[in-house]
Amino acid sequence: MQEPIEFKCPVCESPLILQTGSYLCVNRHTYDRAKAGYVNLLLVQNKSSRNPGDNQAMILSRQSFLNKGYYQLLADKLAALILGNDSAQKLLDLGCGEGYYLQNLASTAAQKKRELALAGIDISKEAIKQAAKRKLNALLAVASTYDPPFFAERFDSLLSVFSPLSPEQAARLLNKQGKLIMVGPGKEHLLGLTRHIYTEIIPHAGNHQLLENVQEFKLIEQFALTENLKVKSEDILDLLTMTPYYWQTKPEQKAHLASLSHLETPIHFEIKVYAKQS
Ligand SMILES: C[S@@+](CC[C@H](N)C(=O)[O-])C[C@H]1O[C@@H](n2cnc3c(N)ncnc32)[C@H](O)[C@@H]1O
Ligand SMILES: [Zn+2]
Repeated sequence: MQEPIEFKCPVCESPLILQTGSYLCVNRHTYDRAKAGYVNLLLVQNKSSRNPGDNQAMILSRQSFLNKGYYQLLADKLAALILGNDSAQKLLDLGCGEGYYLQNLASTAAQKKRELALAGIDISKEAIKQAAKRKLNALLAVASTYDPPFFAERFDSLLSVFSPLSPEQAARLLNKQGKLIMVGPGKEHLLGLTRHIYTEIIPHAGNHQLLENVQEFKLIEQFALTENLKVKSEDILDLLTMTPYYWQTKPEQKAHLASLSHLETPIHFEIKVYAKQS
């Protein structure tokens, strides 16, 4: 049996112990554990706004879209990569959103009778609340990936799917054999959607360039996953709302998208696996 994952107090960096519904440190800093099963460890002074991160509409649209299986090929590939070796695992999803990939990992681990301790953080309280509702037995906190509330070298795997990442913090959290799995958009990703919004397609910024020339990590494997999706009419606005394009879509473009009988679009994910370099 592996040791459980523990939180570190964001104020004084002591371990947090769960006692009668609250997390407490030796210096008596206290963080209530919500009934749904998560804790808010984001200090007020580290918040850029009252409700940082993705808002409720984005989170609920993403949850509805993902739960319909449109990105199943990505979820399956991640589970195969993470559960591909036989050692017991501790995994942290950095910017886990509403927990779709954590859920798939938990159910795949259960099917394969594999021990997998899961943790997830996201700066959006709504996201973590929804992730907690999935009842995954995962350690979940509202926290930033730039200041993750965990001790050094505690994780075998880190996952970052379309989320912001600090390479320094990621390296700190991984143990010596640890791997970071980063997923970002490939060139073709959602072109069938963006062609309705932009006259000129701006390439995705992506998040992989963050790790280029970073001495803490070495790229060891990469994969491109592509598929053509046929998005049902009732799911098109959810797809739009879960992406940053939502903010740039004009009302008439939105109305047009909503009127389509279906939307055909490629999805294209770039997966890169990095080993920690000591
Ligand atoms: C595009 S979503 C991806 C969510 C999830 N990984 C998925 O693929 O379903 C990006 C997520 O990053 C979160 N986020 C943004 N800034 C963050 C930060 N500094 N720390 C943690 N999460 C952050 C947002 O709230 C949002 O849930
Ligand atoms: Zn403390």
